[in-house]
Amino acid sequence: MNSFLHVQDIGDLKQALTEAREIKADRFKYQHLGNNKTLLMIFFNNSLRTRLSTQKAAMNLGMNVIVLDVNAGAWKLETERGVIMDGDKSEHLLEAIPVMASYCDIIGIRSFAGLSDRDYDYAETVYNQFLKYSGKPIFAMETATVHPLQAFADLLTIEEHKTVRRPKVVLTWAPHCRALPQAVPNSFAEWMLEASKLEDGVDFIITHPQGYELDPRFTEGATIEYDQQKALEGADFVYAKNWSCPGVTVPEDYGKIILNHESAEGRSWTIDAEHMAVTNNGKFMHCLPVRRGLIVTDDVIEGANSLVIPEAANREISATVVIKRILESLQ
Ligand code: CP
Repeated sequence: MNSFLHVQDIGDLKQALTEAREIKADRFKYQHLGNNKTLLMIFFNNSLRTRLSTQKAAMNLGMNVIVLDVNAGAWKLETERGVIMDGDKSEHLLEAIPVMASYCDIIGIRSFAGLSDRDYDYAETVYNQFLKYSGKPIFAMETATVHPLQAFADLLTIEEHKTVRRPKVVLTWAPHCRALPQAVPNSFAEWMLEASKLEDGVDFIITHPQGYELDPRFTEGATIEYDQQKALEGADFVYAKNWSCPGVTVPEDYGKIILNHESAEGRSWTIDAEHMAVTNNGKFMHCLPVRRGLIVTDDVIEGANSLVIPEAANREISATVVIKRILESLQ
């Protein structure tokens, strides 16, 4: 595997899940693979789970790990070509990438969407520059449009906690005070739709206010239900997430909040006990970090049906599978 962005990059989903269970049972089984190999994790944005779980995964595989916080001690990087660098950015990514690549064997990238230029974000410009100029295998630790390590961990968590052969999984938009990227819902939709093709997979529904339609390349074939209550009825899993306007129906609204969290309508999307009451004793999921009172109420996230902690713990497993696959391709 030379690049990990999309569900297709992992190949057969059932095989990947089997591998994840095997690694969970013995997470040091492949420790020999990373001997004398170095992972460089590059963060353009903050992280708690991705940083710790991916580092732990690399350690499970016997690797050395270097972590670079681009915004804390490194030269500020210019990412656009053709600019006169007379501002505060001292180094261009196109020199920095091969330099960074010379110190490692594999690179993980976290680089969020800027949310001002849809074409730039959806072209995965920063990730693809790393892919092109590093000459090293690259994987996404949440990029402009995807968060596949999260979606893989989410799928594993659903598999572990499902009580019916084919659970109903609902992705619901929830309100937030800041404009957030679409990476998590994009990947969650992409992975759930792939899982829906399996005989013992999932039935997948997306619910959000009008105008928050996700990019069709991630949701092709998904059922969209604008009535949140209707969507949640009988759900086995409720996956809450905020995202800003993807700009699909109104391009000028890309990256904006179009339903305010303080409005009564916005607030009506917050997942509380009343919302969960119409589900099939549904489990609550969120990728974290989560803003309580906006996305979900305290009682729901702290309740017996909340999976947020096992979901985060499974990030170590999804990362171990992905890095293992990359190491195997380097052998
Ligand atoms: N879910 C997730 O990626 O968490 P962090 O942003 O803390 O890494």
